[in-house]
Amino acid sequence: MAKGKSKRPKIDHKILCVDDEEIILRALQRLFNYVGYQTVLTTHSGEVALSILENNLDIAVIIADEKMGVDNISGNEFLKRSMELCPDAVRIQLTAFSDPEILQGAVNEAKVYSHIRKPWDNKELVKTVQAGLRAKLLKEAKHQRSLQLAKAARHYKKENGDLKEDISRLEKTNEQLQKAMTQTANQVNDGFMNTLLFVMQYAAPDLWLHSRRVGKWCFLVAKELDDSNRYPTELLRMAGVFHDIGKLNLPKELREIPLEQLTEDQKQQLSGHVVDGLWLIRRLPEEVRKALRAPIREHHERYDGTGPYQRFQDQINTWAQIIAIASDYDNLRFANSHGGPRGQQETIEKMKEDLYSVNDRVGKYDGKPAGYFEIFEKLTQEVSDQDLERQSVEELDSIDDVQVGQVLAEDLYTVKDTFFRARGHTVEALDIEKMKLYEEEKNDVRHIWIEAKESN
Ligand SMILES: [Fe+2]
Repeated sequence: MAKGKSKRPKIDHKILCVDDEEIILRALQRLFNYVGYQTVLTTHSGEVALSILENNLDIAVIIADEKMGVDNISGNEFLKRSMELCPDAVRIQLTAFSDPEILQGAVNEAKVYSHIRKPWDNKELVKTVQAGLRAKLLKEAKHQRSLQLAKAARHYKKENGDLKEDISRLEKTNEQLQKAMTQTANQVNDGFMNTLLFVMQYAAPDLWLHSRRVGKWCFLVAKELDDSNRYPTELLRMAGVFHDIGKLNLPKELREIPLEQLTEDQKQQLSGHVVDGLWLIRRLPEEVRKALRAPIREHHERYDGTGPYQRFQDQINTWAQIIAIASDYDNLRFANSHGGPRGQQETIEKMKEDLYSVNDRVGKYDGKPAGYFEIFEKLTQEVSDQDLERQSVEELDSIDDVQVGQVLAEDLYTVKDTFFRARGHTVEALDIEKMKLYEEEKNDVRHIWIEAKESN
C-alpha cells in the first residue's frame, strides 16, 4: 500500500467537499486523498463551508451537493455565495436528479463548471476535477499574461513618452547646434571675406578702394530700394565688393592704362576678369556663390543689349545693373584710366551721355523714372565722399612719407610681425622716431595705410 501511495504525485490544490451525508464526504475524501490531493476538507453544512472558504481562500475545487439539508442554504445558494470568496475555484455540483432548470440555474448563477450525477463514477469525477483545474490554470495563466501585457504596454507607453521627450530634447539640441553652426559659418564667412579683402588690399590697393566703394554704393542703393528679399543689403554689398575680383589676376599696369589706349589684345585680357572672378568665388558657400555669380558675370552688360553677353534690359541681373552704375560712377570719378578724377556732378553728366543710345530710348543703364540710375543719381547728391567707406585711404610708399597728425587706417606691424600701432591712432613725432629705429634694426614697419585728409 505504501508502495502504491508513494508513486502518486502529491497535489497541492485544496478541495472542499460539502454534502449532508457523512458517508459521501468520507468517500470523496478517500478518493481524492488516494489520487494525491493533500488537502481535502469536508463539511455537511453550507454555513460551515463558507467559513472554511473564508479561512482558505486558496481552495481550488469545491464539490457541493445540490441538496444539503442541514441548514437552509441550498447547494445553488452556497455555490453562488462561494463565488464571492473564491471566484476562481472550480465548482462541481453533485446532484441526485437532473432538473434542467436547477442545473441551468447553477451554471448561470454559480458558474458551476460541471454536474456529476449521484452515484458518481470515481474516474469520471476525478477527470472532471482535473479538467476543471486545467481550465482554471489556463484561465489564470491567461489572466497573468494579460496582466504582463498590460504592464508591458504601460511600460512601453512610458518608454514611448520618454522617447518622445528625448526626441524633443534632441531636436532642441540639434536646433541650438544648427544655430551655433550658422553663427560659426557666418563668422567664418565674414572672416573669409575680410581676409579676401585684405589680400585685395595688399595685392591691388587701387582695386580694393574701388571695390569697397562700389560695395558701399550697392549697400546704399539696396537700402533705398527697401526690399530685403530682392535686395538684401549685406549680400548686395558683397556682390559690389567682389564684382571685379577677377582683376586681381591682371597686371597693375593693365588696370591703369587709359581705356582708349588699350590694344585689342589688352581689351581681351581685361574682359577676362569676369570669368576669372567667377572662378575665384567658386569655393564660397553655395548660397553666397549663387547670389554673386550673376552679378559678377553680368556687370558689364548694357541695358540696350550691346554688352558682352548681349543681355537686354530685364534679362540683365538686377544686382548687376546696380553694380554697373556704381562701378562706372566710381571709375569715372576717381580712376585715371577712365579720365578721372571728376566731381560728382560732372561724373553724373558724363554717365547721362550713355543713358540713352542713338534711338534716344534705351542706353547703357536703366534710365526709367525711379529706375536704378535715377535712384543712384539721387544718392550721389546726398552721400558725401567722406561718407563713402574709406574712400580716402592711401598707402604710403615709405616711412619718409609719414607725417605727424596722420591717422592710421590699418593696424601697423613690422616685417617681423611685431605689432606697432593700432588703426585710428594719430601719428606722433615719437612714433616716427621709433619707426626709424625699427628700420635700422631691419625690422621695418610696412604697409602704412593712412586716412587721407582730402579726397580727389
Ligand atoms: Fe568689371
